[in-house]
Amino acid sequence: MTWAPGTGDGLAPTPVVRLGLEVAGTPRELWLKLEGYNPYGSIKGRTALALWRDVADRLERGAGLVESTSGNLGLALAALAAAHRVPFTAVVDPRTSAALLHDIRALGARVVTVDTPDGAGGYLLNRLARVRALLREQPGLVWTDQYHNPANPAAHATGTAPELHWQTCRRPMSVLVAVSTGGTLAGFRRYAAESGAGWELVGVDAAGSAALGGAVGPRLLSGLGSSRRSAFLPDGHRPTVYVTPAEAVTVCLWLRDRTGIAVGASAGALVAAALRLFRTDPRRTGAACLCPDGADRYLDTVYSPAWRQAHGMTGSDPLPGVRLLAAEGVR
Ligand SMILES: Cc1ncc(COP(=O)(O)O)c(C=O)c1O
Repeated sequence: MTWAPGTGDGLAPTPVVRLGLEVAGTPRELWLKLEGYNPYGSIKGRTALALWRDVADRLERGAGLVESTSGNLGLALAALAAAHRVPFTAVVDPRTSAALLHDIRALGARVVTVDTPDGAGGYLLNRLARVRALLREQPGLVWTDQYHNPANPAAHATGTAPELHWQTCRRPMSVLVAVSTGGTLAGFRRYAAESGAGWELVGVDAAGSAALGGAVGPRLLSGLGSSRRSAFLPDGHRPTVYVTPAEAVTVCLWLRDRTGIAVGASAGALVAAALRLFRTDPRRTGAACLCPDGADRYLDTVYSPAWRQAHGMTGSDPLPGVRLLAAEGVR
């Protein structure tokens, strides 16, 4: 038995599923790393642990913790805060999943919802303004600042990325990473540069997101994209693929129906981007998608027929030219 390289953070490796697909007549391999299997249901379980450790000594004397979050990081921090009896405030917006809000509150955290749009396609800029106001009002309040804290990319450079490299037998391939703060992608870039992994790293962003230098516009889905540039990737990233909500949703439903794997909206965007790359280049035969979370937090959006109808998404046979050949788990 060979064991995965230890990340030193005590987390078990998340599972990887390998799909055999035929896309535009050519066989391809698509590896899905299912980060929803992390503690607290998302890749942000890893980020939260790293951020927590970074501020832990300040928390002992402080007045509690605050963070701006679209939901996943908020849940993970709420759990850590509850375990250490530290008061935690999650600053969220109206797109945060109801399931996540329920769990964050159940862990005893305070939820502050900012419902004024920021004029840049989302709520982030106003969420951050609220965090700054809270820091002014409550001396000693600690902000993990997932947007600038180097512990965010470091969690992925030392944990997520080497784990995926090992699980995919160190093969060179395209690796697709969803972008919001840019922390995950920056960590993968660092690992790839230091290890010589031979990866083509593809940033996947929401249409209307400024995270990697795009023009801002209305965005519908929670978790993917940003109202401003990533501080971890100030010069952007190439290649980057922009995905619409309808494309992401179509893929989520296709994956659930054909493979039984139910992932979140950002993962749907990643697989949509991978299929686009496969279609445009027959020589591209392998790709891995780092799927940030699972379907449990999208039951009232992506997986709700009423929500889809309200947003004009009604398609049924979704992915022309794509055939599922095989699916197997990898450890
Ligand atoms: C749903 C979702 N989408 C995208 C991302 C990418 O986020 P970031 O760029 O902040 O690492 C994450 C987080 O890790 C996420 O949870």
